[in-house]
Amino acid sequence: MAHSQMTNTDTRCKIRRMGLSDLAAVSAVHTLSFSRQLNSEEWILCNFRAYPRIRIFVAQADKNIVGYIQWVEKSGFRKEVVLELEQIAVLPKCRNQGVGSYLIDSSLALVKEELAQREAVLKHIVVTTRTDNDAQKIYRETLNASVETTISDLFSADEVIMIARDISTKAKSIGRWEKSSR
Ligand SMILES: CC(C)(COP(=O)(O)OP(=O)(O)OC[C@H]1O[C@@H](n2cnc3c(N)ncnc32)[C@H](O)[C@@H]1OP(=O)(O)O)[C@@H](O)C(=O)NCCC(=O)NCCS
Repeated sequence: MAHSQMTNTDTRCKIRRMGLSDLAAVSAVHTLSFSRQLNSEEWILCNFRAYPRIRIFVAQADKNIVGYIQWVEKSGFRKEVVLELEQIAVLPKCRNQGVGSYLIDSSLALVKEELAQREAVLKHIVVTTRTDNDAQKIYRETLNASVETTISDLFSADEVIMIARDISTKAKSIGRWEKSSR
């Protein structure tokens, strides 16, 4: 299984595909991160089982799962893939240390590798979040995504739809981590 490693003064973490044995830990991160979303374990398990339509990656620091990310292929298995970053969460005590950004960058590289194996390329990335969620900033910085529209009162509040367009034709390094480590 392919791995990526991040090392800085605060964090040592490795990004890898979620396995079934990670279910309880990933569900705990979900519960702590999304107060309005119920039945964490059932949600994570059905998504985990939907591979490869849904790919879940975890960030592991020592033996602990500190975050996860869920990527979804939209509208069939296409040669030019529209991918949704449907969910990302980092344990509250591990936030603001770069884990979230690194999780996006590293897992996306792993998704691209898997797509290449079936001769598919990434076309666009879609991500939605609440208008008041700071996560917007991370999506702008790591994915170069921008807000295309706002939908009022969707889940718990107004939601922005962000899109990072024409990924395969842009420079390979689009992530903050990749930029800062050059
Ligand atoms: C959104 C979320 C996943 C971000 O994870 P994170 O690990 O905190 O993200 P990062 O640390 O990469 O970036 C967050 C901030 O920390 C800063 N940061 C990054 N590396 C850092 C470091 N080594 N030291 C200090 N700060 C750092 C970043 O600059 C960023 O600040 P900015 O927004 O002002 O640019 C996390 O806040 C979360 O789980 N939120 C709840 C769930 C949620 O809302 N998910 C998104 C909707 S699906």
